[in-house]
Amino acid sequence: MISGGYYTWKKCDDKCADVCGQQASPTLLSMSSVRCFLQGLDLRSIFFLFLVIPSGVFFIYSHGQKITYFLRPLWQSPPKPFIPITHYYNENVSMPALCKLHGWGVREFPRRVYDAVLFSNEVDMLTIRWKELYPYITQFVLLESNSTFTALPKPLNFDINRDKFKFVEPRLTYGKIGGRFRRGENPFIEEAYQRLALDQLLQVAGIEDDDLLIMSDVDEIPSRHTIDLLRWCDDIPPVLHLQLRNYLYSFEFEHRDLSWRASVHRYKRGTTKYAHYRQSDYLLSDSGWHCSFCFRRISDFIFKMKAYSHTDRVRFSHFLKPKRIQDIICKGADLYDMLPEEYTFRDIIGRMGPIPHSFSAVHLPWYLLENADKYKYLLPGNCVRERS
Ligand SMILES: *[C@@H]1O[C@H](CO)[C@@H](O)[C@H](O)[C@H]1NC(C)=O
Ligand SMILES: *[C@@H]1O[C@H](CO)[C@@H](O)[C@H](O)[C@H]1NC(C)=O
Repeated sequence: MISGGYYTWKKCDDKCADVCGQQASPTLLSMSSVRCFLQGLDLRSIFFLFLVIPSGVFFIYSHGQKITYFLRPLWQSPPKPFIPITHYYNENVSMPALCKLHGWGVREFPRRVYDAVLFSNEVDMLTIRWKELYPYITQFVLLESNSTFTALPKPLNFDINRDKFKFVEPRLTYGKIGGRFRRGENPFIEEAYQRLALDQLLQVAGIEDDDLLIMSDVDEIPSRHTIDLLRWCDDIPPVLHLQLRNYLYSFEFEHRDLSWRASVHRYKRGTTKYAHYRQSDYLLSDSGWHCSFCFRRISDFIFKMKAYSHTDRVRFSHFLKPKRIQDIICKGADLYDMLPEEYTFRDIIGRMGPIPHSFSAVHLPWYLLENADKYKYLLPGNCVRERS
């Protein structure tokens, strides 16, 4: 290789001598001297130096997270599986019959139900949620902070939009909390701090033992009939996770993986703590909807990507470019360009790539369908978002 290179270098010297030696115009000179240099290296070395090494380094730099995710089956074993509870429902089956199908008794009167959420800026989702649950909720409990989990200041969006929620006003317990604004701290600490404050707000709202408490994010919406079933039936598990249909960007893209973080608790003073992690082995099937990143405006996507606890996933500033975000929403692809969080190679490979489009809007929250013109962006075929 060295002798070859030397040879071609020599050959070039001879052949290009007059070109290289001439006092031509400066651009011509530099162009030709570059050509002379390149001709001197052999093709394979050039390829290696200028293509293979840089692209290898770039690939590892830009896909490091993907590589670790892909190797997850090697470093992490799957969590203990849930015990699924078959969920029976049809609007024409009576409550005693439904409770009996689940192996539960029916009560003489229903339990009281509390719905408690931490609010950020999801005004539309909150409206759809509260309209869905309204008939069966004793108190809606909402807490908002002037800080995101990542310590960025944010407006009190509920307060600003409070007139849109007059329909719950008599049943509303609203709380505000000041952020601690510790820059560089793990966002999960601010999140835990806000959840603790929500526990206190629930006391203020008057929750008592054996009342039902729904713990979920605003975008995790239990279906109305699920909550009705749980408030009427006796002997339900003290803590029960809800399996929700999992959507991304709108009800057009349904993930195959299940959403399980939402839970319903029979409240026990001193024991029940507001949390968003796994607290029970029981999982009630098909209990509602989880619509992540279901925002009206591109700017809401950008805010969420910055405010969300997993900000480490925004690895490059171009991830926040509006055009990129819009293209990804219409494709059903991943905003963070990540691999699915799965525990076997078969599942990872099987779930790579965008989510297929769905053309079903059957069994969606009623308020969404009744006001389809207002919430068009949440329905199939309307992926283009407002820019502002
Ligand atoms: C089914 O339920 C609807 C509404 O609850 C009621 O109007 C209808 O009469 C019921 N039909 C039967 C066959 O029970
Ligand atoms: C956040 O709220 C707290 C308590 O109301 C207040 O003291 C603080 O100044 C607020 N911070 C910002 C950045 O708005």
